Amino acid sequence: MTGRTVYLETFGCQMNELDSELVAGELARLGYAFTGTADDADVVLYNTCSVREQAEQKVWSRLGELTHRKGRDPSVVVGVLGCMAERDGVDLIKRMPVVDLMCGPGELDKLPALLDNAVRTKESLASDSPSEGGPRASTGSGTGAHGKTVTGRNISAQQVALQGNTSRRSATLAAAEDSLEMLDLSRSVSPVDPASGAAKRSAYVRITRGCNKFCTYCVVPFTRGAEIHRPPDHIIDECKKLADAGVIEITLLGQTVNHYRFEHGASVAVGGIVQPQKGRTYKGSHQRDAFAGEQTTTFADLLARIHDEVPAIQRLRFVTSYPRDFGDDVLEVIRDHPRICRYLHVPAQSGSNRILKKMNRGYTVEEYNDFIDRARHYLDQPELGRPLMLSGDIIVGFPTETDEDYDATVALLRRSRYKNCFIFKYSPRPGTVAYDKIPDDVPDEAKRRRNNDSLAIQSEISDQIAREQVGREVEVFVEGPSKQQLKREGLSHGDIRKAGGAITLTIGGQDPSTSGTGFQPVSTRGTGFQPVDSAATSTLPNETVQLSGRTDTDLIVFFDAPASERDALTGQMLRLRITEADRLSLHGKVI
Ligand code: 5AD
Ligand code: SF4
Repeated sequence: MTGRTVYLETFGCQMNELDSELVAGELARLGYAFTGTADDADVVLYNTCSVREQAEQKVWSRLGELTHRKGRDPSVVVGVLGCMAERDGVDLIKRMPVVDLMCGPGELDKLPALLDNAVRTKESLASDSPSEGGPRASTGSGTGAHGKTVTGRNISAQQVALQGNTSRRSATLAAAEDSLEMLDLSRSVSPVDPASGAAKRSAYVRITRGCNKFCTYCVVPFTRGAEIHRPPDHIIDECKKLADAGVIEITLLGQTVNHYRFEHGASVAVGGIVQPQKGRTYKGSHQRDAFAGEQTTTFADLLARIHDEVPAIQRLRFVTSYPRDFGDDVLEVIRDHPRICRYLHVPAQSGSNRILKKMNRGYTVEEYNDFIDRARHYLDQPELGRPLMLSGDIIVGFPTETDEDYDATVALLRRSRYKNCFIFKYSPRPGTVAYDKIPDDVPDEAKRRRNNDSLAIQSEISDQIAREQVGREVEVFVEGPSKQQLKREGLSHGDIRKAGGAITLTIGGQDPSTSGTGFQPVSTRGTGFQPVDSAATSTLPNETVQLSGRTDTDLIVFFDAPASERDALTGQMLRLRITEADRLSLHGKVI
């Protein structure tokens, strides 16, 4: 046991939440204990997001706050994990010398060793007498480089693991991916989250890593590397283990999840472990893939296998779908397998063909619309109590976007009828093609106007969809007390962040209170903040609490329940009747 305490905060997407969970499991196994605040932790780790500048700014300000703490207590180890570490490289340490350790998303398997080195180096430096010298960041694109620096009271023990320019290496799949696959395989599947101690009934499972799409605005292909697909047997084993530990809801993760495809004839084993495969050029069409024989597991096959082989999973979801190459085979499998959720998150990004082309999205508006129509044709059956819900992502103010382009996006928004849509102002990201080649020429005022306008339009649509739900009976997965309930109990938002225990979540830019619309509260799933320990809040016999639940179509419903049942209901499925739609929020009653 190390006896050391760690504070781990996660920014950004669900992939980051899962990475944090894996890291937390590894560190817990090594004897690290988790704390709810950074204030007195021995180790402070931020798992970061680079997708938009706003997400990065939050991390910069957290690091700024830590500078004071480190002035008082130079022994604290500060680590930046994830996409910011990968993207900024050692420049990050130069700008923020408070940082001791950096670890890219493709190197997280090395984190325990890096952390151990950093802690030991600090301990040995602390016992030496301090000497002068500026920060010396390690350079190079390899992994595991490190340096030691002593600057007065600021003791730094820099440890760096980044993929650097090796991240898109074209060599054969195998060894490079082996250790990351081991991290996924070593997932500590336990009925409770090691960090928060809360029961785990909903979990993420990664099926692909990285992205090959290179949309011109996006950093992900650079920070998360080339697309690879995990072997299906590994995925199914993980789902089974999660189910055995009590998980009833699984969300499959991938940047372009529907591109999943594993060719068994081409699989390679290293040390007895079948390796993930590089993503290939996708040959799919609407129709069943003519190339998909017995030797290939397509995304449709994978969904059907998990559904059939892991019946304890009551809900199977997946995000994020790429609108192109979405075969009818997948839609048929969703239609024919009742425990697969009829919910698709399919970002369109723009409604203008000219802008889509500049974004390198690889589809036209007509093709996008065709996909939405096909999805509705197969899956929207409200009369059978099985409606389809869609959600999207939109970027406004992409370089050269005119009012006409924007009007086309509004038309797409109205036609798509998303239950919610995350709408972002274009944020130029260094290193991307758009940043280098297309000047960010839309004035911020226009971006803001289009953002507010499209949010208002989406609110109208979300509100209409909410009203259509009134009177329906739905089954929800109870996620715990609503945000409003936590507020009522006297917790400010900041406290909620702390109350969650070790791992807290800030949805970078996707925080619906700022940019998304629709009835989608801040996620409490996965490694997100967990319900506050109810022992800390006394309840009266007749007192009720407001809980929130999620339908299979990803709608959030608030309902009241006796305070005494709060813990027992959390993590269960419950039938509700929707009684009210109040400004984007659904309210229900237990049936
Ligand atoms: N600027 C604004 N939004 C972006 N996204 C990705 N990159 C950028 C950027 N540079 C949005 C896209 C994507 C979501 C995860 O983030 O809409 O689907
Ligand atoms: Fe980024 Fe495009 Fe890949 Fe999505 S598909 S992660 S937007 S490059």
